[in-house]
Parts: sequence; C-alpha cells; structure tokens
Amino acid sequence: MIKKLSTLLFIAVMVFADNVDAQIPSLKNVFKNDFLIGTAMNAQQIEGKDAAADELIKQQFNAVTPENCMKAEIIQPGWDTYNFDLADKLVAFAKKNNIKINAHNLIWHSQLPGFMHHMQSADSVREYFINHITKVASRYDGKVYSWDVVNEALNEDGTLRKDIFLDKLGDNYIVEAFRLAQKAAPHTKLYYNDYNIEQPKKRAGAIALIKKIQAAGVRIDGVGIQGHWKAGAVPMADIEESIKEFSALGIDVMFTELDLSVLPSPWDKVTADVSETAQGSAKMNPYTKELPDSMQRVLAKSYADLFTLFMKYKKQIGRITFWGVNDGQSWLNGFPIHGRTNYPLLFDRNFKPKRAFYSVIATAKNH
Ligand code: G3I
Repeated sequence: MIKKLSTLLFIAVMVFADNVDAQIPSLKNVFKNDFLIGTAMNAQQIEGKDAAADELIKQQFNAVTPENCMKAEIIQPGWDTYNFDLADKLVAFAKKNNIKINAHNLIWHSQLPGFMHHMQSADSVREYFINHITKVASRYDGKVYSWDVVNEALNEDGTLRKDIFLDKLGDNYIVEAFRLAQKAAPHTKLYYNDYNIEQPKKRAGAIALIKKIQAAGVRIDGVGIQGHWKAGAVPMADIEESIKEFSALGIDVMFTELDLSVLPSPWDKVTADVSETAQGSAKMNPYTKELPDSMQRVLAKSYADLFTLFMKYKKQIGRITFWGVNDGQSWLNGFPIHGRTNYPLLFDRNFKPKRAFYSVIATAKNH
C-alpha cells in the first residue's frame, strides 16, 4: 500500500513539475524564427550554483553573455597572467545546452586589470592591447559565436571617449582592435557595443566608427545597442531610426543588455556609465516590498511596444539579450544608487514570469 502511495506521489510530483514547465511558454521557442533571445549570466550561474536560474536559462534562452567573467580584470588579472576558469565553464555549459555565447568584452575602459590603471608607457599599453585581444580571442575562436570587441568607446556627443586606449594608441585604436580580433578569431562574429547609441548624436558617432572600420577593409559584423532604458519612457522613435540606419550599413543590429528600470532616476538623463553614482533616499526606492500592479502594467506596455517594434524589423535584428535572468540579479539594484529594489526584467525574484513576460510572448503571436 505504502509502495503504491509513494509511486502515486512520485508521478504527481513529476506531472506537476512537468505541468509547471509546460505552463510557461519559452521565449527562445516563441521567437525561434525571428531572433536569438539571450540573457547575461553571472558567476554563480556559470558555476551551476543557482538551480532555479539554471532551469530557466535552459528553458528560455538560446544565447548568453557573460556578465563579468570575460572582462579584462577577471580574465587577465596580472600582466600576461590569464584566468580562463569561469570562461571555460561558460563555454562548456553553452556547448552542452546548445546555446550561443556572445563573449563580452575585449577592449573597454572599465574593469581593466589593476596593472593598467596608471600605465604611462604607450609601448606597454600597445603590448597589452595586442596580447590581450590575440590571446583571448584566439582561445575562444570556434567556441563562442561573437565578441563585443570594443565596448562603450563614445561620449554622449558622439566623440571618442578619452580613455587610456585613445590617449596612448591614438584614434585608430578601434580599427586596430577589430583588425586584431579578425585575425585571431576568423570564425567569430565581431561587434561594437554601447549604450545610448539610439540617441541621434551618439548614433552618428557609432555610424562614423563603423564606417571607418569598414573603410579600412576590416570586418565588423554587427552593432549592439545595449538598451538600458526606463519603463514608460523608452525612446521608441530613436530606436526605430537606429535600426534603420545601422542595418543600412550592412551589419546585424542587436539589443544586447535590455532592462527597463522602474525606479526614479536621480538625474534627468539615462546613462549606463558605471562611474556615475548618486545618493539614496526613500523617495528613490519606493517599491521595497513589491512592484504595484500599476507599475507592472507600465513595464509590460513598454516591453510590448519594444517587441512589437523588434518584430517589425526582425529581418534586421539578430539577437535580443536581457541583462539578467531575473529581477534579483539585475545590476540596477545597485546602480546608480546602492541597495535599491528594482524590477527591470521579465522574471521576478522567485523566477516566476511577470505580466511583462506575457506581454512579450503576445507580440510574437500577433505577427
Ligand atoms: O566579484 C566581486 C566580489 O568578489 C566582491 O566581493 C564584490 C564587492 O566588491 O565585487 C564583485 O565584483 C563586482 C561584479 O559586478 C560582480 O558582481 C564588481 O564590484 C562590480 O563593479 C561589477 O558590476 C558589473 C558592472 O558591469 C561594472 O562593470 C555588473 O555586474 C554588470 O552587470 C555591469 O555590466 C555592464 C556591461 O558590462 C557593459 N554595459 C553596462 C553594463 C552595466 O554597467
């Protein structure tokens, strides 16, 4: 009798477990004929220490971007000293689960290894630049699908950001970065990635950059518009114009770090520049317990509008990546103000789909 009961209980659990999975549509399946659907993966997820995230990643996404583990400060912590452990684990996870990796990133002014912070010698910066790109990109050629070769090289007005690479290597460093990556990783797609390049002035700067790379006869396969926007204030017209103008260059357009903050901004601008922070207050952190339904609706509408636009241009768009699996993972809980409770993604802190998730799914069914 007991054996029979335990068998029935086991079947019930399995059915329920199956039912739970079956009840949640899969983003990657719903959009499988349109574009890749990705997420950022953090160290805990890559190490397989987050079972719930692991399950959701495998069910929902066919692309992943390492949130931090392939950045220079982690992958080359010391001069010519590399740590590929987490990156190799990500490659193994992705291969096992038939997921494409967008590697992130080779050249960025932020999260540089400590030994780079006050480097004066242009020759040393050049040696680092050449060695880092060549060593890292060649190691993962054929194992990752794409690289963010250069990340966030522009100012808001479209001019080149004054960082160590511009200062020591001159304004051709971006072309050279892509030239080195092309040589080191012939089987890997090469992208320029930045935030706010849907904005006209910064977009013009990115277009000039891309044209300069192309004019040099160097390969660039796509551009990543990061998509760190604010729910209820998404620059839809600028985004549509950007899809048109970037795709006219003959390259893939991707939305690479999508999240929609629902919290008040301490400034009247939108930025993802991690060097900027602000003071906290109760007014700046209004939803510590839960997100009110009114804001759930604002978030859902913004995501629905975005995915309706993405579907309109699905031939020009290669990938949409969310910058995190669920709200609890989001960098926006700590930026630009530490210790806030934000709700920018499609899955809540219990890994359950939000209203916004279903509004995104619905856009596929309407096309
Ligand atoms: O791993 C260390 C941990 O050992 C230490 O105890 C802890 C406290 O100091 O820091 C941990 O490292 C943090 C890392 O995230 C992993 O959590 C770094 O301090 C923190 O600066 C880093 O933040 C990342 C941020 O880039 C800064 O570069 C965010 O996770 C990541 O989401 C964010 O992603 C960037 C994209 O790469 C580029 N586009 C903008 C986007 C948002 O800033």
